[in-house]
Amino acid sequence: MLLFCNQRSRELGERVAKDIGTEIGEIERKRFPDGEMYIRVGERVKGEDVVLVHTTKDNNDLVELILTLSALRENGAERIVCVIPYMLYQRQDTVFLEGEAISAKAVLMMINEFADNIAVVNAHFLERGGRFKFGGVEVENMNAFPLLGGYYKGVENAVVFSPDEGSMHYARSAAEVIGCEYDHLVKKRIDGETVEIQPKKLDINGKNAIILDDIISTGGTMKRAAEELIKQGAKSVHIGCVHGVFAKGVDMFSGMDIVCSDTLPTPFSCVSVAPLVVDLVEREGI
Ligand code: R5P
Repeated sequence: MLLFCNQRSRELGERVAKDIGTEIGEIERKRFPDGEMYIRVGERVKGEDVVLVHTTKDNNDLVELILTLSALRENGAERIVCVIPYMLYQRQDTVFLEGEAISAKAVLMMINEFADNIAVVNAHFLERGGRFKFGGVEVENMNAFPLLGGYYKGVENAVVFSPDEGSMHYARSAAEVIGCEYDHLVKKRIDGETVEIQPKKLDINGKNAIILDDIISTGGTMKRAAEELIKQGAKSVHIGCVHGVFAKGVDMFSGMDIVCSDTLPTPFSCVSVAPLVVDLVEREGI
């Protein structure tokens, strides 16, 4: 088996490589003068099973992913398992307004042209871990919430909250690891940057609240959720997410207790999803 990763997934890739006892394969990356990307796989992949760990935060990462997969395929890789720790465009997963693209489906369909297996971590368009079809494409959704739960295991008198009902199954899987109660808040999105956490009576007085979400993007959701829990009497508020996008930077979280996974490298990426990737490699018998 050969393991490759993009630069943004380098630290995660190194953890995976260490755990399965292998090295990360060489990929040459260059830019042409006009800005176009050049990709060359620097290992002989013909007839080999390949695992590519390639997270995506911007459009360049996506183009690089497609070119890398294509290079692996063109050079005769036998089986390509593509792990996308954070798949961008995942939140536009349906037509909200007539005429829109279903971006999550379009991205998955592109990747599916080249990869034999696709695995993602906590896709927004899926509410549970497991193997699903989305937009006609088979995808393995790996759940990192139990790993976040493991991080908070020592917190006493804890209650886990998801900011909305949609991610409550995920929050529950973390609460099960901590061995505590869980609940959800009620969120209303006003626009891309503004959310309202609507009134809901919570039994949180004197307890330690842990708010867990799949994604922090602008940070608006987490900020409002934390404020609401403090208002209702929480003794402390801890914040955790799988994908730390931080579209508005991380300053708004300074002084707060916050943790993210390493699907995207962030200053708060203290929880690694490497065990999920290693488990996938073992289950797939690669
Ligand atoms: C949406 O439902 C997601 O689960 C997150 O709550 C959302 O993406 C967070 O976005 P933001 O940080 O911009 O509020």
